[in-house]
Amino acid sequence: MTGLVLQDVHVRFGHGAGAFHAVRGVSLTVADGEVTGLVGESGSGKSTLARAVVGLVEPSDGRILADSVDLVRARGDAARLRRRIQMIFQDPSACLDPRMSIGDSIAEAIRAAARREKTGAPSRRQCRDEVARLLQTVQIDPARADAAPATLSGGQRQRVAIARALAARPAVLLADEITSALDVSVQGAVLNLLLALQRELGLTMLFVSHNLAVVRYVCDRIAVMRAGEIVESGAALDVIDRPQHDYTRDLIAAIPRLGETMFE
Ligand SMILES: Nc1ncnc2c1ncn2[C@@H]1O[C@H](COP(=O)(O)OP(=O)(O)OP(=O)(O)O)[C@@H](O)[C@H]1O
Ligand SMILES: [Mg+2]
Repeated sequence: MTGLVLQDVHVRFGHGAGAFHAVRGVSLTVADGEVTGLVGESGSGKSTLARAVVGLVEPSDGRILADSVDLVRARGDAARLRRRIQMIFQDPSACLDPRMSIGDSIAEAIRAAARREKTGAPSRRQCRDEVARLLQTVQIDPARADAAPATLSGGQRQRVAIARALAARPAVLLADEITSALDVSVQGAVLNLLLALQRELGLTMLFVSHNLAVVRYVCDRIAVMRAGEIVESGAALDVIDRPQHDYTRDLIAAIPRLGETMFE
């Protein structure tokens, strides 16, 4: 339903002599319903690019299109569309208010989505039912809706963050290092859940990770970023098995035991 097209996107931080050019002319297409992995060394601009797509930083140049609508410049439709692009972060606490129960956090997102879609405010009961459905979707017992985020494990909190993102009925998900802060023992479960949901809901996804083993497991395509630029992109298996760029080869070489990971 909604692919993502980036055309010559630039992001500069600051002005004048102190300005830093973090994203330098990135063009990238994430096809409708596909998962594109964005990899690259620390500081290469992956998060900045994802944040530009979701509207957390303003590109200094270029176009970001979803459904052929320019998200950067257009108003109205674009503002609505942008809310259908949801981001999940490395630290789930970033989107969960510690003073709110997990159910209330999800309900807040449900009500925001209803306002956006102008479908009328859901009743308390509708909200409660939808919260229960979303918690079930991410494999958390709906009976825990009243729990505070602090009482959950890191993996459970990340699943609540996914439920909250899904409450907005997104067409596009941006996942930025969403398992990096989790214990290895639960990383696989969170990734499998995300992938199952992506397939079931036909979501378009940009999956940011420095872990190429994970990216190979999750993604249809891979784009390799270095110093603000995409240096290589293609089908995931091609990029991993036949990297064209030395930088990609170095990234692959940096993964210990690629091919013997828990995802095999
Ligand atoms: N708000 C900001 N102001 C100034 N510079 C910034 C800002 N945000 C990011 N940068 C700089 O932009 C560059 C790219 O940062 P970014 O966070 O996008 O990298 P990354 O590829 O996501 O790295 P990592 O793998 O460590 O998460 C870095 O040099 C960073 O210091
Ligand atoms: Mg980052």
